[in-house]
Order: sequence, then structure tokens, then C-alpha cells
Amino acid sequence: MGAIVHRRFVFLIGTTLVSIAILVTRIWITSQEIRHQPRTQHLDLTLSAFRDSANLSDGLYTYHLNMSQFQSDFPYLQTYKCSVTLTPQKEQMLGNPKPVLIMAIKSHPRSGARRSAVRQTWAREVEVEGYWVKPIFLIAHTEVSGQMKLVALESREFGDILQWDFNEGHHNLSLKERCFLEWVTIELLHVEFIFKGDDDEYVNPKAIVHYIKEHGSSPNTLHGNLQCHSAVMRSSKYAISKTVYPLHKYPNFLSGGGFLFPGTSVKYLHEAAQKIPVFPLDDVYFGFLALAANLTYRHDRRFYVWGLAFNASKYQEALVVHGIGPELLIKIWTKVQSAQCKEGQGCW
Ligand SMILES: *[C@@H]1O[C@H](CO)[C@@H](O)[C@H](O)[C@H]1NC(C)=O
Ligand SMILES: *[C@@H]1O[C@H](CO)[C@@H](O)[C@H](O)[C@H]1NC(C)=O
Ligand SMILES: *[C@@H]1O[C@H](CO)[C@@H](O)[C@H](O)[C@H]1NC(C)=O
Ligand SMILES: *[C@@H]1O[C@H](CO)[C@@H](O)[C@H](O)[C@H]1NC(C)=O
Ligand SMILES: *[C@@H]1O[C@H](CO)[C@@H](O)[C@H](O)[C@H]1NC(C)=O
Repeated sequence: MGAIVHRRFVFLIGTTLVSIAILVTRIWITSQEIRHQPRTQHLDLTLSAFRDSANLSDGLYTYHLNMSQFQSDFPYLQTYKCSVTLTPQKEQMLGNPKPVLIMAIKSHPRSGARRSAVRQTWAREVEVEGYWVKPIFLIAHTEVSGQMKLVALESREFGDILQWDFNEGHHNLSLKERCFLEWVTIELLHVEFIFKGDDDEYVNPKAIVHYIKEHGSSPNTLHGNLQCHSAVMRSSKYAISKTVYPLHKYPNFLSGGGFLFPGTSVKYLHEAAQKIPVFPLDDVYFGFLALAANLTYRHDRRFYVWGLAFNASKYQEALVVHGIGPELLIKIWTKVQSAQCKEGQGCW
């Protein structure tokens, strides 16, 4: 009798302990899940409520952005919550005492050949004259599963892909601006400078570092090829209707082919992005953000956003030359490197 009670008692204690262990494990798992939830979601939920109409003035014009018009014509741009599906490796960059220069490169999942060429040339994670250069491709989704698999494969191999779950599309490029600002604000402690460009161009990291050392001291100045009060196009790929934007002029903005901005400005650009409507042309949108954030510009002709005929000495000074496909890029890069080597300026 006593032995049976004793055995039951032991059994009860045993099952109770097991239940407690399971419960503790569950609580632990849940707390881990909560801890690992991307902080982005929380931040975006609290701040997206503030995106609203705005009247922005640059002294010459006042630009009225009517949120209800943007909401009805481009609802997705206004309401999308940035959700990352692939994230770049950050260890080498964050653990580095050197100032970081991010090369943020807009790319389409189908453009594997372009990414391969820029990785062989200028988009490499290396030190350039005291700066730690970190390339990051900004990519969205497509319906083509082969392209999506390629991107996932590249991400594993190179750790240089930042991907969100919206679909690639001309107007959706503005989401790459908005979500990249959010990602930098939340995920990176400090970056010195960001170069924003495309995957079909020649970029010169060495010249960019020289440029930063010479002209990059202002925390509120953006650098690039300045488009001054461009006329609004009502037809073509860049068409914007009078309903959504009645004014015939844009504020100044930097051509999207390649521009440069200090890490200190990211916080203010990101704050602006939470407040004003998302404009469906990415470079114009960035101009509105800069205006709302009260940032200034420095124009430099060495941002060759309309291309440049090949000349080794001009390409050594160029910061960026837009519109160069993969095969030509590799040829040009090789020629410029060998010209630099001959002149004793060091080689990559
Ligand atoms: C912007 O200006 C227009 C016209 O002056 C005015 O009707 C509107 O209320 C203003 N909007 C904001 C958000 O200040
Ligand atoms: C904004 O657009 C709505 C229609 O979507 C219109 O009713 C309203 O008057 C506009 N507001 C301004 C200030 O233009
Ligand atoms: C933008 O992305 C959304 C969601 O993926 C998609 O429905 C929409 O068609 C895209 N817009 C453009 C202009 O491609
Ligand atoms: C914008 O910046 C300028 C200096 O660049 C400053 O004088 C001005 O007060 C600022 N305006 C606002 C609204 O912050
Ligand atoms: C290349 O540009 C330099 C000036 O930047 C010029 O002196 C030289 O003649 C050019 N070379 C060719 C082949 O056009």
C-alpha cells in the first residue's frame, strides 16, 4: 500500500516537473520569438499614421502634395509596410573601425549578369583609402521563380542583397528609397556616407572617397547631378498626371543615375518619409524628402548621369558614369586600372 502511494507520488511529481519544463520552454520560445520579431514592423505601425498632405516651399515655388490624390492613384506606395525577405551580411561592416561607405545599388532580380559584372569591378567589400566599402543590392520580388532562386543563391554566396516583398515596377522604385532609409535607420548604427546608384554603370570608389574627403564635411548636404526645377512630364515613362500633381515644376532633385549623401542626413530623410506622400518617381521623391528635411545640395559635373565617351583619364576622375552594360563595364574597368597602375597610383 505504502509503496503504491509512494510510487504514485513520485509519478505525480515527475509529470508535474515535466509539465513545468514544457511550460518554461514554451515561454522561453515565445519570448525569443518576440525578441526576434523585426523591429521595423513596430516602428512603421506607429509612424505610418503620420503620412499626410504637405505644402513644401523652396522660396521659388510651393509644392502641394495632396495625400488623398496620392492615396487614390498610388495606394500601394502610401500604405506598404517595409518587409525584408533577404538581408545582407553586416558583420565585417559593423565590426569595422573604419568609416563605412555603402554602395546601395538598385537592381532587378533578372539582372544577374549586371550584378556579376559590378561585383567583379567596383561593388566589392574592401577597404578603399581608409574607408570600408560595402555594396548592397536593393531588390524586390518578381513572379518568376527562377529569378527569385537566383537572388537567394547570390545572397547566400555574396551576402550583399537587401530584398523586400513588394513587386518590381517602375513606380515601386520609390519604395526602395523609403524602405532603404528605414533599414539604414534601424539596422545600422553609423554609416559615414551612402552612394546610391544603378547596376548598369561605372562607379569609381576611389574617386568617391577622394570626393568625400574634399567636399563631404557638411552633415546636411547631398551631392550629385542637380536637376533644377525640371518641368513635369505629362507623357512618356515619367508621366505624372495633373490630377495627382498639378504644378508644372518639380523642386530641385539629384538625378537618380548616381548620388551621394552623408549618414547624418538619413535620420532626417527617414523622418520626412514618414510624413509626406510617396511620389511615384524615385529621384523626384528623394527631392521632396530632401526639401521636407531642409537639406542642401552640391552639384558636381563628375556625376556623369548621362554617360561619357571612354577616355581613361576622364574615367579616372569620374565618380559615376551611367548607362554601361556588363561587358563594356569590365573592359572599361580593366583599362582604367591599367592606366592607373602605369601612373603609379596603385591598383585594385
Ligand atoms: C496647403 O495649401 C493649400 C492651398 O493654400 C491649403 O488649402 C491646404 O490646406 C494646405 N495644406 C496643408 C497640409 O498645409
Ligand atoms: C485634395 O484632393 C481631394 C480629392 O482627392 C480634394 O477633394 C481636395 O480639395 C484636395 N485638397 C486640396 C487642398 O487641394
Ligand atoms: C508594386 O508592388 C505591388 C505589390 O507587390 C504590386 O501589386 C504592384 O503591381 C507593383 N506596382 C507596379 C507599378 O509595378
Ligand atoms: C533650413 O536650413 C537653413 C540652413 O541651411 C536654416 O537657416 C533654416 O532655418 C532651416 N529651416 C527650417 C525650417 O528648419
Ligand atoms: C582625354 O581627356 C583629356 C582631358 O581630360 C584630354 O587631354 C585627352 O586628349 C583625351 N583623350 C582622348 C583620346 O580624347
